[in-house]
Amino acid sequence: MDIPDWLYSALYYASLAPSGHNTQPWNVRIVSPEKLLFSLDRDRLLPATDPDAKESLVSLGCFMECFDNALSALGYEAEYLIHGFPDETNPIDVIINKTDKTEDSVKLLGIKRFFTNRNPFLRDTLGFAVLDSLTLSVSTGSFHFFPALDRKGLYIADAIVEANKKQFCDDDKLIELANWLRFSRREAKERQDGITAEMLGLGVLSRLVWYGFFSRKTVFSSIFRKTSLDTVMLQVNNCAGFAVITGHDSSYASIIGAGRDYIRLALASLNEGIALHPMSQVMEEEPFSSSLADELGLPGVICLVLRIGYSDYIQKKGIRRPPEAFVIREQS
Ligand SMILES: Cc1cc2nc3c(=O)[nH]c(=O)nc-3n(C[C@H](O)[C@H](O)[C@H](O)COP(=O)(O)O)c2cc1C
Repeated sequence: MDIPDWLYSALYYASLAPSGHNTQPWNVRIVSPEKLLFSLDRDRLLPATDPDAKESLVSLGCFMECFDNALSALGYEAEYLIHGFPDETNPIDVIINKTDKTEDSVKLLGIKRFFTNRNPFLRDTLGFAVLDSLTLSVSTGSFHFFPALDRKGLYIADAIVEANKKQFCDDDKLIELANWLRFSRREAKERQDGITAEMLGLGVLSRLVWYGFFSRKTVFSSIFRKTSLDTVMLQVNNCAGFAVITGHDSSYASIIGAGRDYIRLALASLNEGIALHPMSQVMEEEPFSSSLADELGLPGVICLVLRIGYSDYIQKKGIRRPPEAFVIREQS
């Protein structure tokens, strides 16, 4: 079965979705152009840092939202039926229908432009009008903002640094990270996943050092850990504050929904010149993972913690696998 152009195009935009460690943990099975199955690829989960696969579910939600935006621009719409943990034995049913309207394709330009900005942001605070527009861009009650200099903002900054310190002492998590860092341009080109020096926002000289002298082993060196921690401190001290995306509950649908909200927030932020940077370690390390929602007085389940602020820094989108790499076509 050939993939119709409109479906290939929607899958291409979906492939541009962000994901933790850029694992791109999605698989798509095409039963027919009107019926697809979406699932998580078990070989692309992060068992050390994300044992419940919560972040992979958020990533899958990002994939679905990008797919949905592309479908709308092409005159189609999808219905998603989530039956449980969406692995290959229990995939999400995706039923696609043609509609008689198309949405403008501005959001697709946003999906192409959006990247994770790890550079320092301006510290200027976000005004009420901007916060209103970000709040309205996502599902009701899922966006929360904490200014950097408020008590709760300072608490988040501190918790992120402490959580990172813990992770840099945890060999299993470091091995997992090292496996998804790309220290050779050839490996990055062949695999089209993981994190490159360019995606980290490194300058020309640092990139030369990264590709010329670094390897997986470097991740375990004290200088790498210290430099990485210094970078985290620079990042949390240079932003307007922190955004938290919550889901209603811990159901799979709710966590996937938070991923969809992340893309909505990302597109709305782009329009306002605002940059986003997920900092998930605080959701991965105790005591923060258990106590963060209470400390911040948030109802529901925390699905993503982000640094947020104005930035005019522009970077090329990170590497992605093409649809051919994650699509399986059923024989007709
Ligand atoms: C659920 C999720 C968790 C993430 N956690 C982190 C994180 O802790 N630190 C970080 O620097 N980037 C994080 N990211 C950003 C990804 O690394 C990034 O999306 C991916 O490498 C692709 O790069 P791009 O967004 O620039 O295209 C996360 C993204 C998602 C969707």
